[in-house]
Amino acid sequence: MAWKTIDDMDLGGKRVLIRVDINVPVEDGRVTDATRIERIVPTIRDVMDKGGKPILLAHFGRPKGKEVPEMSLAQIVPALEEKIGANVRFAARGFADAVSALPAGEVLLLENVRFHPGEEKNDKGFASELAELGDVYINDAFSAAHRAHASTEAIAHLMPSAAGRLMEAELKALEAALGDPKRPVAALVGGAKVSTKLDLLENLVSRVDHLVIGGGMANTFLVAQGIEVGSSLAERDMAETARRIVAKAESAGCTIHLPVDIVIAQEFKAGAESRSVDVADCPEGWMILDAGEQTVERLVELFGDCATLIWNGPLGAFEIEPFDRATNAAARAVADRSREGKLTSVAGGGDTVAALNKAGVAEDFTYVSTAGGAFLEWMEGKTLPGVAALGG
Ligand code: 3PG
Ligand code: MG
Repeated sequence: MAWKTIDDMDLGGKRVLIRVDINVPVEDGRVTDATRIERIVPTIRDVMDKGGKPILLAHFGRPKGKEVPEMSLAQIVPALEEKIGANVRFAARGFADAVSALPAGEVLLLENVRFHPGEEKNDKGFASELAELGDVYINDAFSAAHRAHASTEAIAHLMPSAAGRLMEAELKALEAALGDPKRPVAALVGGAKVSTKLDLLENLVSRVDHLVIGGGMANTFLVAQGIEVGSSLAERDMAETARRIVAKAESAGCTIHLPVDIVIAQEFKAGAESRSVDVADCPEGWMILDAGEQTVERLVELFGDCATLIWNGPLGAFEIEPFDRATNAAARAVADRSREGKLTSVAGGGDTVAALNKAGVAEDFTYVSTAGGAFLEWMEGKTLPGVAALGG
């Protein structure tokens, strides 16, 4: 791998700018999921152990270049202190003075970089202002690496740069899943719409041996095969596109797996009457809300034959019971095989982590990414500017 890591850097007495992603969910001023904070702690601790002074650069929300008080990073400080186990100072402005005053053994967090209009413009001037605050730059924000912003991209060209521990872990896991995976490799892609995951599906069919399609997206593929899906969510205008993806898969030797049976209901609400039927038997006025038991059995068998699995998106409308069953059962099978060391499983992107947490199996996956959009863009085969900048 082309990029340097913390191990390659001399950090003794240095001011170390660390780009982190602490864009975490907050309700009533409290962090409701601290996963992203927990995952940056090893980097901060390692920097401190090597004698460096950590100065954290981060964004929160989308303030669009203006100061928006509700999007101040000040509210994240208590959660950071708790997880890092050190005093965290906060600077709303006067960054240079705050950096000079930072004592060893403490951490400094600078205010939301997106309050500055130069951040999202990847402005060199703003990147230079930030670069002057430190001696070394470490990017630990894989989940923001799909953004070419001043604190993720431009800055890396201005000073000695390296990947943090979380960045390293994310890149290694993704490389193991899709870069140079043990075969057979399967990808499971769920979610509502084909239109949002077109690039991803097109890239995957030429790289994996099996592609499992679930969620509302599967309905579009069923429609493309002439199967009636009642009042299910389906993008009928994408049928031609779905057929093209199927043809591309065929010529690439990738097997596409669609549901063979389905769980249907007339309404999408908890406790709605539901039925399990063959995939071809969705009546008028009914909608497909989950994959059925036979489909899950086949998936469990497939996962048993695979060495690598990449998972993005739920198989059904997992937010409401009983339409979470296929997602839960398939996720449990993946978790079991992973725990036995027989399957390398990597999950990430959007709803995925929520679905796996709900199934109670996230810990047994080989790796669960902290990234949403960055994970998807990586699965699409795109170069992430924040990663590319570290290699240059
Ligand atoms: C995220 O939460 O997906 C990252 O922090 C990136 O945020 P953004 O989508 O606002 O760029
Ligand atoms: Mg996002």
